[in-house]
Amino acid sequence: MKAQTSHPNAVPAPRPQQFPLPGSTPEPDYAPGERDALIARIKRLLIEQDAVLVAHYYTHEDLQRIADETGGYVSDSLDMARFGNQHPATTLVVAGVRFMGETAKILNPEKRVLMPTLEAECSLDLSCPAEDFIPFCDAHPDRTVVVYANTSAAVKARADWVVTSSIAVDVAKYLAERGEKLIWAPDRHLGQYVQEISGADMLLWKGGCVVHEAFKAEALKALMKQHPEAAVLVHPESPEPVIALADVVGSTTQLIKAAHDLPNTLFIVATDNGILYKMRQAAPGKKFLEAPTVGVGATCVSCAHCPWMAMNDLRNLAEVLETGVNEIHVDEAIRVKALRSTQRMIDFAKERTAAKKVSGD
Ligand code: 13P
Ligand code: SF4
Repeated sequence: MKAQTSHPNAVPAPRPQQFPLPGSTPEPDYAPGERDALIARIKRLLIEQDAVLVAHYYTHEDLQRIADETGGYVSDSLDMARFGNQHPATTLVVAGVRFMGETAKILNPEKRVLMPTLEAECSLDLSCPAEDFIPFCDAHPDRTVVVYANTSAAVKARADWVVTSSIAVDVAKYLAERGEKLIWAPDRHLGQYVQEISGADMLLWKGGCVVHEAFKAEALKALMKQHPEAAVLVHPESPEPVIALADVVGSTTQLIKAAHDLPNTLFIVATDNGILYKMRQAAPGKKFLEAPTVGVGATCVSCAHCPWMAMNDLRNLAEVLETGVNEIHVDEAIRVKALRSTQRMIDFAKERTAAKKVSGD
């Protein structure tokens, strides 16, 4: 694979993006009996409020377990978006980061969408403010605008397509086959990976995920040497030298599936360690090691756990159900435009899944 800096189509974001990172959120420190009481209260409130909990794999396992036990859903960002649409509950409680709540609202305007916290950002979303991105797109009118789901509703509204990591390569290949040239935002690592596989002509925005950018290739190589029998699973938001070491590169759902499907009994996992809860369920008896985030002379900022995902906990989940605070609102004009690009992804994914079923892939 080519290095990012040498790529002819790699363009810098219009200005360097600066944003504050939250400090790491410690494991919740519950008083004796508090955790069980909160879980019971949340389960009762979900019924009383006609609400369903949709959680991302990176949230705390307490939240994932409640979603599983109450008819909710735990998944990747694409399936989280699809689930809300299909479920009859009038309130969706989205445990994840803000763009996931916004996506739920874009697709379900008639439903109340709540989040345990509105402070859970995403470094990709923050690196791509609409006021910078829109003029950038306007300066390249010949290009189809493809944005990752990890963006604001306003950025989605300017896009032609929204993608998630589970469908990004398929969409880029499809557009490249139609001869379309792309703007890709905001993740440069995912963009570079997609470009290599699809051959699409892509202008890459220069955002990054603080969690995945922390994985270190040299330290990973050393760990692989210690465990030559391990398969390496990597999320494509990781830097190219880390992706180059992977046995499987994929979205969170695809990595969990690989842990189940591959014959290996040991895995090294380069994504947020919240995923290990579901990986262990999907592949009981198998062992998982976290890919290293601290290389020689380096320090990790996120230490393989998203500081924003970690803001979701039992206390704020119970509170939001009790009080109805933290409701997601999206300006209607923006929502209607963002729906076009988001729905396009969902329809495309549905067609692909149907086609794969027919061809037996
Ligand atoms: P997935 O779409 O694979 O769930 O990824 C979302 C995300 O935020 C990864 O960091
Ligand atoms: Fe965003 Fe990275 Fe956190 Fe995912 S893990 S929500 S991409 S900051």
